[in-house]
Amino acid sequence: MSKNTSHKRLLSSEKKTILVTGANGQLGMTFQKHEDHYPELNFVFMDSNALDITDTMAVKKVFEELRPDYCINCAAYTNVEKAEKDPEKAFLVNASAVEFLAMACKAQSCILIHISTDYVFDGQKTTPYNVNDIPNPINVYGASKLQGELNIKKFLSQYFIIRTSWLYSKEFGKNFYRTILQKAQTEKELHIVDNQAGCPTDAENLMGYILDLIMNRSDNYGIHHFSDKEVMSWYDFAKLILEKNNIQNTTLIKDNSYKTKAKRPVYSVLG
Ligand SMILES: NC(=O)c1ccc[n+]([C@@H]2O[C@H](COP(=O)([O-])OP(=O)(O)OC[C@H]3O[C@@H](n4cnc5c(N)ncnc54)[C@H](OP(=O)(O)O)[C@@H]3O)[C@@H](O)[C@H]2O)c1
Repeated sequence: MSKNTSHKRLLSSEKKTILVTGANGQLGMTFQKHEDHYPELNFVFMDSNALDITDTMAVKKVFEELRPDYCINCAAYTNVEKAEKDPEKAFLVNASAVEFLAMACKAQSCILIHISTDYVFDGQKTTPYNVNDIPNPINVYGASKLQGELNIKKFLSQYFIIRTSWLYSKEFGKNFYRTILQKAQTEKELHIVDNQAGCPTDAENLMGYILDLIMNRSDNYGIHHFSDKEVMSWYDFAKLILEKNNIQNTTLIKDNSYKTKAKRPVYSVLG
């Protein structure tokens, strides 16, 4: 992220108000961490207590009072396994609530920046998915996120839907990166699957991509794909995490016997 050049593009007299929903998730926390680096942006962070995005009246009220220029929706039902057992909740948060946000954005001429997922695809391709590829989710989470995308398109023309993949933060939240480091402290052997290929994406880089859209006043609306560039399996990623953290006394074992309720795309590289 080129912070200094970005500052020149947006003058302080044009201070924009940015509402960040789901502010206590790993991506939301990443924005909070970097808030001070962007004095020309007026961030308003709302976690699920401050604003439950499934509460349509609350959403309407917040938008009327705040009149944000941008809403970055970091709120989501992200537990892929639990979504299989509770599709209603997954669809409520990832689809219906996104429609409430879209309606509120429309009423206040606010630009919606919504985060979606590689899991909208079925994983049958062997080359990177581009924005024109037809989604075909194979699990409830992916289906609910796709419905969220469709709900945005129904109401808005000024939106960014940013699909990303294998999101992790080194500092915040529960994610693969932090889980591996945690487990490596107590377990000598870790069994990791190597039957899926994707691109782990650092939340810091996704944040940079989003803030560049705002700072550059991008009007390249629509669906975007953003991920870090290295394609790997979860096994490869675990290996990298241990190497980067100089952990030598934990052995990794490729093991695809771990059964999950939710199907995962075997290939979900975004191009
Ligand atoms: N994690 C991944 O691997 C991945 C991959 C691709 C795309 N994405 C997408 O990236 C975005 C950010 O994900 P993340 O990993 O940062 O998620 P996360 O860490 O699970 O955070 C999601 C946040 O949403 C909040 N939330 C849930 N229901 C809400 C509601 N009704 N109202 C307001 N807030 C609510 C949660 O708050 P509570 O905990 O208080 O409920 C939580 O703080 C999501 O759209 C996700 O679908 C994630």
